[in-house]
Amino acid sequence: MNKKILNSLNVGNSIRFMQDMDYECVDLTVTSPPYDNLRNYNGYKFEFEKMADQLFRITKKGGVVVWVVGDKINGGRSLTSFKQALYFQSIGFSMHDVMIYAKKNTPFMRSNAYTNGYEYMFVLSKGKPKTFNPIKEPTVRNGKEMLVSNKGADAKNNKVLKELKKEKTKSNIWYYAVGLGGTTKDKIAFEHPAVFPEKLAQDHILSWSNENDIVFDPMCGSGTTCKMALFNNRKFIGVDISKEYIKIAETRVGQAAGLFCER
Ligand SMILES: C[S@@+](CC[C@H](N)C(=O)[O-])C[C@H]1O[C@@H](n2cnc3c(N)ncnc32)[C@H](O)[C@@H]1O
Repeated sequence: MNKKILNSLNVGNSIRFMQDMDYECVDLTVTSPPYDNLRNYNGYKFEFEKMADQLFRITKKGGVVVWVVGDKINGGRSLTSFKQALYFQSIGFSMHDVMIYAKKNTPFMRSNAYTNGYEYMFVLSKGKPKTFNPIKEPTVRNGKEMLVSNKGADAKNNKVLKELKKEKTKSNIWYYAVGLGGTTKDKIAFEHPAVFPEKLAQDHILSWSNENDIVFDPMCGSGTTCKMALFNNRKFIGVDISKEYIKIAETRVGQAAGLFCER
C-alpha cells in the first residue's frame, strides 16, 4: 500500500483512483453513492458497475463494503438499490446482511403513500467477514425473575429465580436522528446535500473493523466516514469528485484531528 494515501482526502474520480490502489488492500469501505436524481456531478455520469468492480478488487479477503443507498421516489420507487445489490452479488460479493437505516425524523412527505423513513445499508463481504465486533444494547427485561426451569415427572413447570441477561446484540435496524445535531454538529457539513449520520459511520466502523485497519470512502462527500475512522483509531482514505466537497471534508477532518490530539 502506498503510505502516502493513508489518512488523506483526495479530489478525483474514485474509479480512476482505485485503479492505482493495490489489489486487496482495504479492510472496510463505508460509503453512499449519488442517488438517482443526483447522478451527474459536474457533468460526470456515475458509472456504478465500474465502481463496484474496483471496490471488489481493492477489498481484502474477509473485508466488508457497507453501501448506504436509497431509491428515487417519483410516482414509484426506482429500485436502483436492488439492481445494485444484484450486481454486487454477480461479481463475487456476498450479501452478508441487508440492514436498515431508519430516520427518527422524516421531512419528506408523500401524498399517496406512507412517508419514507429508511434507506438500505447493504453489508457486502468478500468471503466470510474477518471481523465482527457486535454492538450491544441493554435488554428491556433484566435483573432477577422467576423463570420456568426443568419440568418434573409430574408435568409441573418448576420456577426458579434466575438472572436475565443485561444486554443483547443490536438488531439490524438502526435508528438515527437526522439534521443539525442528529447527523452531525458540524454546521459546515450541511453545505453538502446528502450527509449521512456520524453515528451510522461509527457504528459500522466499530462493527466491521479493528484499530489501525484501513477504512475507505470512494465518495466521501463532506468526510463523515473519514472523520469517524480517525476518531476510532483507524486509517482512512477519502476520495470525492468535487473539490468543494473535499474542502468541507478537510475542514471537518482537520477539526476532528485537533480534538483527537487533545484526548
Ligand atoms: C451521497 S454523497 C456522499 C455523502 C457522504 N457520505 C457524507 O456523509 O458527506 C455522494 C458523493 O459521491 C461523489 N461522487 C459521485 N461520483 C463520484 C466518483 N466517480 N468519484 C468520486 N466521487 C464521486 C459526489 O460528489 C458526492 O459527494
